[in-house]
Amino acid sequence: MDFRSLPKIELHAHLSGSISRDCLHNIWLQKKEREETTLEDPLIEMPADEFDYDLDSFFPLFSRYIYVLCNDLSSLIYTTNSVLEDFQADGVVYLELRTTPRAIPSANITKHDYVQTILDCVSKFNASSSMKTNLILSIDRRNDLSTALEVVDLALRFRGQGVVGIDLCGDPAVGDVATFQQAFEHAKRHNIKITIHFAEAPQSSTPKELWKLLSYNPDRIGHVINVPDDVKEEIVQRRLGLELCLSCNVHARMITGTYSDHHFGWWRETGCPIALSTDDVGVFGSNLSNEYALIAEHFGLDKKEICDLARGAIETIFGNEKEKQRLREIMWK
Ligand code: IMP
Ligand code: ZN
Repeated sequence: MDFRSLPKIELHAHLSGSISRDCLHNIWLQKKEREETTLEDPLIEMPADEFDYDLDSFFPLFSRYIYVLCNDLSSLIYTTNSVLEDFQADGVVYLELRTTPRAIPSANITKHDYVQTILDCVSKFNASSSMKTNLILSIDRRNDLSTALEVVDLALRFRGQGVVGIDLCGDPAVGDVATFQQAFEHAKRHNIKITIHFAEAPQSSTPKELWKLLSYNPDRIGHVINVPDDVKEEIVQRRLGLELCLSCNVHARMITGTYSDHHFGWWRETGCPIALSTDDVGVFGSNLSNEYALIAEHFGLDKKEICDLARGAIETIFGNEKEKQRLREIMWK
């Protein structure tokens, strides 16, 4: 089945992980022509049929390659627009894109400039497109408290311009989530929505970590893979929104087994709102339509069940009531 024409909501997409290989290649070609890069061609660095990045090879791909290639204003604008176009072309009608504010001193770009530039692209795109986008700012697990507080301050500074929440992401093997308590409390106090990468890998799934993260009162949680029973019960009782990513979990071997073994099957029965999401379509190569097709195929969902699944995400968006109403009109047509 092809679900491109199904109106879809994407709530868990990392900007830099959503850049297609072709888009990276175009940037590389321009830089190569101007003799501005010595990097390998993205099509060689990330071959077209290579999607099996695991947690050890995945995170360095950004620091070692993608961030080094996309290191100026023009590449930031070009990649952001390209990512927005790709989601729209795939039939996404509402997108919450997330990104870690990144200063690029070599190009004189501050974190503030970085966020402002992306928001300018988003606002132009929103004005001329049926897909609406909001932004979530990510705290990286390797950050210290002051960096995390800076992310919350940026979220507050830009909340009127389309920033709707903050996220905790990054290598699950790194950092102590207790570091960020003050940052999450600060965000909550100011009604900034919170989403958190949750129980993504065994190292980041100790009861201590998971209960700490729940104490930050997230509105949604992402991945939700290695969850002990008592934590599951709490999540169900709170009816937390769940961002579930199928292909990424399979390719990165974050779950045991394959598509049909994915924990979507378990969470589906719980009544928690589910937003099927791509995570990093540029790396794992499966767009949202394909994720829906995989769910239909491996969990035996018919067309109506797939439509209901897609609509279920409306209730858990960080966008406002007006946006929810717009989506209800589009998705219940
Ligand atoms: P950016 O925040 O737009 O630069 O997107 C890339 C960043 O997102 C990476 O450097 C990671 O920190 C984060 N990220 C992407 N995918 C994942 C994931 O599956 N788990 C945790 N962090 C992730
Ligand atoms: Zn993620």
